[in-house]
Amino acid sequence: MADDALKVRMLHFNEVNMTPVVPLVHRAYDELMTAGLADYEVALSHDDKAVVAFTQDNIIAGILVYRELKWLRQWWVLIGWVAPQYRRKGVYTRLWAELVKRARKNKNIESITGATSVLNERMREVNASLDRIPHTISYKYPIRGNAITLTPKIKE
Ligand SMILES: CC(C)(COP(=O)(O)OP(=O)(O)OC[C@H]1O[C@@H](n2cnc3c(N)ncnc32)[C@H](O)[C@@H]1OP(=O)(O)O)[C@@H](O)C(=O)NCCC(=O)NCCS
Repeated sequence: MADDALKVRMLHFNEVNMTPVVPLVHRAYDELMTAGLADYEVALSHDDKAVVAFTQDNIIAGILVYRELKWLRQWWVLIGWVAPQYRRKGVYTRLWAELVKRARKNKNIESITGATSVLNERMREVNASLDRIPHTISYKYPIRGNAITLTPKIKE
């Protein structure tokens, strides 16, 4: 990746409300739901925050949106997304490094958490590459219909 890394500039948004991050969150969830990798979209709160990677041409290459869970002393990542044309160029890795740097400076934060579908192999590979530790697994039990609602439809 080092040779291929995209040059990006990092910005931090303390409140994502009314910023270009909002439509990109919808776009990210649209991609995930179409691919069968998410069942729902989390509604943003006005004070959700984000680190955003901009290209040299001021195009948003990727976003990492997170929420502070004060009582848990955590930052919870709601969604991470990199525009398809900029993938595998280290953008998410840079976003993550920026988030960790900020968390280390904040004495109230003890961990950064987040979840992904067990079927999101790409994200699981990314998480492994960043030494994020698997922590919880969620289960679904079918009451009616087919329990297997998550069926990936997109292959790269
Ligand atoms: C998952 C996603 C955020 C990764 O972003 P990215 O900028 O391409 O990731 P990086 O370039 O920083 O990748 C870092 C490492 O993760 C692993 N990785 C990333 N994408 C991978 C893939 N498609 N297959 C296998 N490993 C992958 C590799 O180890 C990679 O390092 P390498 O390129 O040197 O081999 C991006 O593919 C995306 O936006 N996907 C759709 C949205 C999504 O799934 N979000 C997560 C929801 S929970």
